[in-house]
Amino acid sequence: MTDNPPSARHPDESTTTMTELVLPQHTNAVGTCFGGTILSWIDIAAGICAGRHARCTAVTVAFDDVHFITPVRLGDIVNVVARLCYVGRTSMEIRVDVWRERYDEPREHANTAYVVFVAVDERGHPLPVPPLVVDNDADRLHQEQALERRRQRLAKAHVPNRA
Ligand SMILES: CC(C)(COP(=O)(O)OP(=O)(O)OC[C@H]1O[C@@H](n2cnc3c(N)ncnc32)[C@H](O)[C@@H]1OP(=O)(O)O)[C@@H](O)C(=O)NCCC(=O)NCCS
Repeated sequence: MTDNPPSARHPDESTTTMTELVLPQHTNAVGTCFGGTILSWIDIAAGICAGRHARCTAVTVAFDDVHFITPVRLGDIVNVVARLCYVGRTSMEIRVDVWRERYDEPREHANTAYVVFVAVDERGHPLPVPPLVVDNDADRLHQEQALERRRQRLAKAHVPNRA
């Protein structure tokens, strides 16, 4: 069932937390997790978040720079938290924070990624998404910063900015 026009939804409704354990098949020769594996977890968490908001399939259209500063090692627990920052007509920007957890240490922030998804129909054509309810200072700031990232991203990708 789809509501037409879609009613606005709060980011809390779609915020997604995923927990993974770093296993031998996720690690490289020095025992740290492959960057590509972490990117894949980020993509999955962001995709679930986008799909929960749009209530349909959403595909990745852009991935901003990700820097791997904190090593994530074999046996570490990885928490991936995805939350919507901004919603356009058919696109959604999701901030994904990755946290490293060890039983005997405080959680450490490993990295942050900004990922853009577009809601699509069964033929892969973009679909309008519900507006985002932004009702607190933290989400307002994230939305404001997302608008600037969107402007820069679209300029780089040579996509007309209809914001
Ligand atoms: C995503 C896709 C459906 C968009 O189709 P399109 O014909 O470019 O559609 P539009 O030009 O109408 O753009 C749709 C939205 O995407 C945004 N967009 C398009 N290209 C973008 C880019 N490079 N970066 C960020 N946003 C982008 C547009 O700004 C628009 O947002 P809005 O509706 O909120 O204003 C199409 O590019 C596609 O199928 N890409 C491949 C997706 C995929 O397979 N991903 C998996 C990894 S390979």
